[in-house]
Amino acid sequence: MEENVQVDPLKVPEIINIMKKEEIKFTIAVYDSADELPEDDAFLLSEARSATQFAYAPYSNFLVGAVAQLLNGETVTGSNQENASYPAGICAERVLLSTASSQFPGIGIKTIAISYNNLKGKSDSPVSPCGICRQSLVEFEQRFGHPVRIILAGMQGKVQVIENAVSLLPLTFGASDLQ
Ligand code: THU
Repeated sequence: MEENVQVDPLKVPEIINIMKKEEIKFTIAVYDSADELPEDDAFLLSEARSATQFAYAPYSNFLVGAVAQLLNGETVTGSNQENASYPAGICAERVLLSTASSQFPGIGIKTIAISYNNLKGKSDSPVSPCGICRQSLVEFEQRFGHPVRIILAGMQGKVQVIENAVSLLPLTFGASDLQ
């Protein structure tokens, strides 16, 4: 009987000749604190930090605030809203996106700042949007054909700035895949 031998494709010369490798890379800007940010970004981040107060998060005690500046200059706020039936809860980012799309239909987002206050632990380094929120952010970006800049930080400490949402979701599934 033949043995089931595992082959590492990277070590078989014939396969090396036909396959191509593609690297997916992106760059983020990192600041030591909000004090170093350009004025508009510092304002948005401070609004996102304030918006954590409006979170309803009695189950996780993880309060998330998100604020967007739209392409028409308006700002829109979101915070996470939990539910005793846990999956019914919704993240701050998607509360924000639904609010923006409902109150200002047809207007894209320029920049979104996201912050959090972890009542059970530290809140001094950036956290990134969850997978579902990344998908929703990319939809917004593609729908309006405009990158959504993303500013991430806790209540204090380092700040990350990412130039578009799709960077956070490489190999995205999107509208064009359904054509
Ligand atoms: N949460 C957000 O609001 N945004 C994220 O991107 C990550 C998680 C919320 C969901 C839940 O209410 C709490 O944080 C803990 O997961």
